[in-house]
Amino acid sequence: MTPAPFPLARPRRLRATPALRALVRETTLTPSDLIWPIFLMQGRSESVPVPSMPGVNRLTVDRAVEAAREAASLGIPALCLFPYTAMEHRTADCSEAWNPDNLTNRAIRAIKDSVPEVAVMTDIALDPYNIDGHDGFVEHGEIVNDRTVEALARMALAQARAGADILGPSDMMDGRIGAIRRMLESEGFQKVTILSYAAKYASAFYGPFRDAVGATAALKGEKKTYQMDPGNSDEALRLVARDLAEGADMVMVKPGMPYLDICRRVKDEFGIPTFAYQVSGEFAMLKAAAANGWLDGPRVMLESLMAFKRAGCDGVLTYFAPEAARAMND
Ligand code: PBG
Repeated sequence: MTPAPFPLARPRRLRATPALRALVRETTLTPSDLIWPIFLMQGRSESVPVPSMPGVNRLTVDRAVEAAREAASLGIPALCLFPYTAMEHRTADCSEAWNPDNLTNRAIRAIKDSVPEVAVMTDIALDPYNIDGHDGFVEHGEIVNDRTVEALARMALAQARAGADILGPSDMMDGRIGAIRRMLESEGFQKVTILSYAAKYASAFYGPFRDAVGATAALKGEKKTYQMDPGNSDEALRLVARDLAEGADMVMVKPGMPYLDICRRVKDEFGIPTFAYQVSGEFAMLKAAAANGWLDGPRVMLESLMAFKRAGCDGVLTYFAPEAARAMND
């Protein structure tokens, strides 16, 4: 048989018009895929820019409530709160972490009072309260596990009492999901959900975040004895299995863009709600290139977010959330 003079299969046919492209698009992105991380600070009616994260501000609690209103109007279902803790509240015993009136807990109550339809997610880890900048207690130069886990459970309970919808343990201690779940069950908070930072890597992409929460100067040493080694992938699956068995409802992979392979493996293996955190360094990188005119900022923003969906994620924590939602709503 002589070969056909022209290709019979022409995949370009389906790329020819916007209508056909829309019809066959496999993955879509909507504002309801986004969780918006915000930084809190003390005071009233103030926002202070974070230099390494253009467009991102630390917000006082009243401004955080305004952000929640903005989220609701844009169709963003959830905010995630990170406190910039004043230096006088950082101690070796980290007791501010479970103070019912700490910045995070005040913000949870204020947001749930005014904008109850927006889900509030929190961060559970000791680093904002720790003079050593670590996610756990430091004893003789080591980050200790079990004592930290007890403290994390107390912290979780205080956040649940304040009205948090989603607890986000980001500390990477062993056994914390089980300890938090047991605490929630025994105190009557059966409905509070846990989005576990199950596969959180010891990454250099967290730099701007540590500036935003004032942890860069405080941090002594590295986090490699608790956060994952970037070379590992099977281990991520073991950690997800472990966290699900201990009572996690959803899991996270963090950072995002450099770890999309992990997102895909987790989704394929478990089929559970899977999120990625497009972290501060990923955001800063795209913003810096856009500011230099080297990349088209709005387009790379949406393309990077679509990548998470395509890799199997149900949603993304991203500092682009309000900007991206506005772009999608246009
Ligand atoms: C710490 C925490 C970190 C981030 C979220 N929670 C930083 C760290 O582990 O040092 C990073 C988020 C980001 O970079 O955007 N518990």
